[in-house]
Amino acid sequence: MLQKRRESLPVSVEVFEKSADRYDFISNVISFGLISKWQERFVDFVEPEGRVLDIACGTGALEKFLYGNVPFLVGLDYSISMLKVARRKFPEVPFVCGDALKLPFKSGSFDTVLVSFSLRHFDDIEDSLREIYRVLKRGGKAGVMELAFPERGVWRGVVEKFFKWFAVPFARLRSKEDVVRHLYGSVVDFPHGERFKEIVKKSGFSEVVVGGDFSRGLVKVYRFVK
Ligand SMILES: C[S@@+](CC[C@H](N)C(=O)[O-])C[C@H]1O[C@@H](n2cnc3c(N)ncnc32)[C@H](O)[C@@H]1O
Repeated sequence: MLQKRRESLPVSVEVFEKSADRYDFISNVISFGLISKWQERFVDFVEPEGRVLDIACGTGALEKFLYGNVPFLVGLDYSISMLKVARRKFPEVPFVCGDALKLPFKSGSFDTVLVSFSLRHFDDIEDSLREIYRVLKRGGKAGVMELAFPERGVWRGVVEKFFKWFAVPFARLRSKEDVVRHLYGSVVDFPHGERFKEIVKKSGFSEVVVGGDFSRGLVKVYRFVK
């Protein structure tokens, strides 16, 4: 399935395109080894079934928990380098290069759609939710997992310091300022909680379930039905 690529790669793809071979290592280090646990809990929370689409699958992190446990699985990402790593890890899984805002699938093709740590990177959250709605079958479900800033308290201060003194300088070592700004801003600005619920409902979904926070609100998960 070939899709015409955009004139230039968005910042949110370029950064992964350049760091694909180190992505698993970096995400493991900056999450203190927690990322895999979060991904496993997210899959358990959504309970994927039937034909499953993993949007912005990256290096195939969710595939570790999905492959062999669902009857049909496809991963999609816009970064060819990330997909190369995913294909090396899971040669049996079909991985497609495509844009989350213009999914190269017919309407009503999937029973479950998952988006892990990626929705905040898309140019337009509402457009991408509408695309998810379109490719889901009626009654199909979607799951989203995103990083979050804890709302208040001591823990928020700790997370702010972590970003200021560790994550941002770490990103600056190898990335341009616009990339660093994007990575930080996309976490701070993500419309979590009730705001996200409203956006999801506006896109046509019902039964929006806000899952428990993982690691004291550092990660939030959502599940909703078409
Ligand atoms: C933080 S990584 C997450 C990867 C994986 N889902 C995980 O949980 O580790 C974000 C991914 O979103 C992809 N991405 C960003 N914008 C995209 C778009 N418009 N369409 C498809 N993929 C996109 C990037 O290429 C990257 O692989």
